Amino acid sequence: MSNEAHEIYEKAYKLWNPDKVETFRSYGVELSMGEREGSYFKDLDDNQYINMHSNGGVFNLGHRNPEIREAIIKGVELVDAGNHYYPSKYKNELCEKILDASPDNMKYVFMLSGGGEANDAAIKFARKATGRTRVIALECAFHGATGIAMQAGNPDMAAFFNMKPDEEEYTHVPYNDLGAIEEVLKKNDTACVIIETIPATAGFPTPIDGYHKSIEELSHKYGALYIADEVQTGLMRSGEMWCACKLGATPDIIVSGKGLSGGYYPMSAVIMNENAGGWLKEDGFAHVSSFNASEIGCIVSSKAMEIMTRDSTKENVDMLTNFFAAELSKIQSKYPQFLSEIRQCGVIMGLKTSHPMGGPALMKGLMNNGVWSVMANFDKSVLQFKPGLLMKKETAEEVIKRLDKAIEETLAMFS
Ligand SMILES: Cc1ncc(COP(=O)(O)O)c(C=O)c1O
Repeated sequence: MSNEAHEIYEKAYKLWNPDKVETFRSYGVELSMGEREGSYFKDLDDNQYINMHSNGGVFNLGHRNPEIREAIIKGVELVDAGNHYYPSKYKNELCEKILDASPDNMKYVFMLSGGGEANDAAIKFARKATGRTRVIALECAFHGATGIAMQAGNPDMAAFFNMKPDEEEYTHVPYNDLGAIEEVLKKNDTACVIIETIPATAGFPTPIDGYHKSIEELSHKYGALYIADEVQTGLMRSGEMWCACKLGATPDIIVSGKGLSGGYYPMSAVIMNENAGGWLKEDGFAHVSSFNASEIGCIVSSKAMEIMTRDSTKENVDMLTNFFAAELSKIQSKYPQFLSEIRQCGVIMGLKTSHPMGGPALMKGLMNNGVWSVMANFDKSVLQFKPGLLMKKETAEEVIKRLDKAIEETLAMFS
């Protein structure tokens, strides 16, 4: 390790986040990012990695996408964050692009900076629309670390900060259990059911057939709204713009983030139907935020939306989807004792291992072979496998070759 890298880790341990630094150190996967371009980045010692984590989709369009870079450079010549009180053509342009790519029932887009903040807002908007407070969410969910979103997510995370959710306001149910959702909805006091379309932090466990459509129908039957948290699964990662729609459902609210940033400027969006967004006609000042629909952010996100809605992008995602499906199935047949399940919906993938700490072990094995990927935090037997939408076939082939070698080496370590 270079002196520069060593100094960065030591200072970060002291000043920034001791436990994060120590945790990755204990897994043998310390890293500080250096140069980056497309599907690749380097660490400070010039080791190159293929990015198969994409920061949950922040790098949906790769690192330093040249078209986004050009848009942001032109944008800073023209505007700044703008004023959240006033309209702007850049805000309108982004709203139009997002609504054009969303189901017809969607009418408004409310833009913020992060996914957690947008989930907080979405739940508030559902509470306002229904006049109710209860939120039904998954036990295995992660909706962000802000107040309401954190309480809606896995209760242990909120408990760490003494924010244990009030049982009258939040009910957590097991994944894939529609009966459990209906039992709670029968109380007729639920404002919304919020579901990560495929829960990322739980390792992308596969939903049962018709799960999301049933959630939509059950929610409406009992007067609640259905919020699809598409922060990780949206923006073409499933092969369609919104994964919940691909799986047959029409949410009342779609929440997006991460990749809307183009990897450069934090942006998130709450996309709402008339019912959910009705409050905007009543009191437009009810939810304000300094960086709401920042103009420079809108320029960046509009360019990201333009790229994500291109036919060529869809074709590439379909190519990657089919390639990984075929090749991961071969790898699984080669290592059935280790790879117990391949979870995949488009380029949203989770490799489930048969070992409780198989995720970090494989993360290290891959890192030794120049591939960066991260375990699922709520189920460390799983490795999240998330290429960008524009990854080239040759790079995907390289990922598979390196994965094969990494599994062989990881198994040797376990035996
Ligand atoms: C599904 C999901 N929702 C929400 C969030 C929170 O987004 P942010 O970190 O931008 O607040 C995340 C972050 O990882 C996420 O994975």
